[in-house]
Amino acid sequence: MLKGKRILVGICGGIAAYKSADLVSRLKKKGACVKVIMTKNAGEFITPITLASLSGNKVATDMFSCPQDWDIQHISLAQWAEYIIIAPATANFIGKAASGIADDLLTTTVMASKAMVIAVPAMNTNMYNNPIVGRNIESLATHNGYLFFGPASGHLACGDTGTGKMEEPTAIVEYVERLTNASRSYEGKTVLVTAGPTREALDPVRFLTNGSSGKMGYSIAGAAAARGARVILISGPTHLQPPASVEFVPVVSAVDMYNAVMDSYKECDIVIKTAAVSDYRPAVAYNHKMKKTQNEISLDMVRNPDILAQLGKDKGKRILVGFAAESIDIIEYAKDKIKKKNLDMIVANDITQEGAGFNSNTNEGFILDSNGGMEQLTRMDKMEMANIILDKIACLFGKDNQ
Ligand code: C5P
Repeated sequence: MLKGKRILVGICGGIAAYKSADLVSRLKKKGACVKVIMTKNAGEFITPITLASLSGNKVATDMFSCPQDWDIQHISLAQWAEYIIIAPATANFIGKAASGIADDLLTTTVMASKAMVIAVPAMNTNMYNNPIVGRNIESLATHNGYLFFGPASGHLACGDTGTGKMEEPTAIVEYVERLTNASRSYEGKTVLVTAGPTREALDPVRFLTNGSSGKMGYSIAGAAAARGARVILISGPTHLQPPASVEFVPVVSAVDMYNAVMDSYKECDIVIKTAAVSDYRPAVAYNHKMKKTQNEISLDMVRNPDILAQLGKDKGKRILVGFAAESIDIIEYAKDKIKKKNLDMIVANDITQEGAGFNSNTNEGFILDSNGGMEQLTRMDKMEMANIILDKIACLFGKDNQ
């Protein structure tokens, strides 16, 4: 439901700006209160009069010549907005926001606001694929909780074909509607999320681990907190900043993770185990650094506790969700794990696919449930996938968001 929602649309200077007029019009038709900020460059593509007519509000373009009826403009707009949609979000806007540069009304307002920010990127394919842009998107998503929607692929205005097209206004409106519908559906629930890899020590300086970045779990933790849940995030070592308002429990090894999960398990309604837990650990962890005295050595390993399987045995009314990263027979293994670990749902990824699984910003795969249901998830941003997973879990406890 968008009725009555206060939405600030920020329009940056890109050819896709012409689509923002349609976006504003569609948001208005859904009953949202819409205000618009345009950057100076956006004014080269579309006029403020168009957006003022469609939004029914004066359009702000400049820090220093503002509509007289607003207070200190960037502060009043920042406080007014419940949602900020930046469409199109250019590489320039994304770069400035990620670097903390607030040199115009839009960047200043966004930085001064606590509203949920949805960025809808649109730019040339090579720009989008530039690692600096990727880094900035990742930084905004992980440190500031920005949600990125798109870009889509197709024929671009610059003549290239590839990723960089702004998502269509109808799809943006649907996406924002889903977010607003979902927004408090986890109120009163306690969600335990595990994330990241574990490290299994060989000696004080060496360890066995895997390439899990933690992004999927951190995205789920942040999205669940945004929906009103109390979230306990138990994470192996990652480079990520824990999302705001989660209870963060850092751990190192699988045994540490087991202990931390067991400490919190009883308080939880939902457990989502995205962590890539090491199945084995060295039988002996030396107190001193191992010396290279022999040409060959062999390593004895012992099994780690299977945390999720253990939780499955003492499940009660809890909802248990597992992840399965596989390289072959992913659906068969996933079905098997649902049974063996007594799960309600599992998200299975084929880690051999580019853009899926470990250390990627995107993910794809299948969601399977204990009733035999299965849904394919096409490649998407991990935050978007987090929201789909949370929608599915909400159906299980009777809060259907669809
Ligand atoms: O059996 P497998 O490791 O493939 O299962 C993956 C799922 O089980 C993930 O959700 C993972 O977090 C969880 N797991 C666990 N404890 C382990 C191994 C995996 O909780 N020791």
